[in-house]
Amino acid sequence: MSDMKSFQKLLLENKAWAQEKLEDDPKFFERLSKIQTPEFLWIGCSDSRVPANEITGTQPGEIFVQRNIANLVVHTDLNLLSVLQYAVEVLEVKHVIVCGHYGCGGVKAAMGHHSLGIINKWLRNIKDVYRIHENELNNIENEDLRLDRLVELNVHEQVLNLAKTSIIQHSWKHHSRPHLHGWVYGLKDGILHPVIDIPAKSPIDPIYEYDNL
Ligand code: CO
Repeated sequence: MSDMKSFQKLLLENKAWAQEKLEDDPKFFERLSKIQTPEFLWIGCSDSRVPANEITGTQPGEIFVQRNIANLVVHTDLNLLSVLQYAVEVLEVKHVIVCGHYGCGGVKAAMGHHSLGIINKWLRNIKDVYRIHENELNNIENEDLRLDRLVELNVHEQVLNLAKTSIIQHSWKHHSRPHLHGWVYGLKDGILHPVIDIPAKSPIDPIYEYDNL
């Protein structure tokens, strides 16, 4: 199939999908066009094999989504912070989920030493996670197992990063939400593995606490 045809197939598939939705529920688009009330914010990897809605069996309207390479929560990332603020303060989501995946190419690249240009700066955040857990990681001889453990630790660290933000701390104090969760998706079996839950109002490392929110 030519490149042009594969591109046009998306538009054709879209028509069929919209038709199918309408047959199931004639008001589906009319209802969704008026309001979105998702309970969840999903911060996932950009990897094409980890589509938030599909792997959780959810529909349009149910999950607010932000994806980036290796599902990072970086405190200077205006895009992530804008999504987080909107999700927490306007949509009033009940849960924020950071979802990584085993075999993540971004995490793998961060374990290596090859300069990749601009993306070095993004991956540096994962090298910092490695440094924090260096002792544990250096003791894992098998490289694939070391990668998978770093994927888990990275998710854990990104969930902690959420709790460090004034957005989350303010919402915890005044609204007792959202709860924070870290999951890792298995590309080989399609299963989501929970690695950390931080309920709203949990204590955090005091150095990151704001006392005037
Ligand atoms: Co990835």
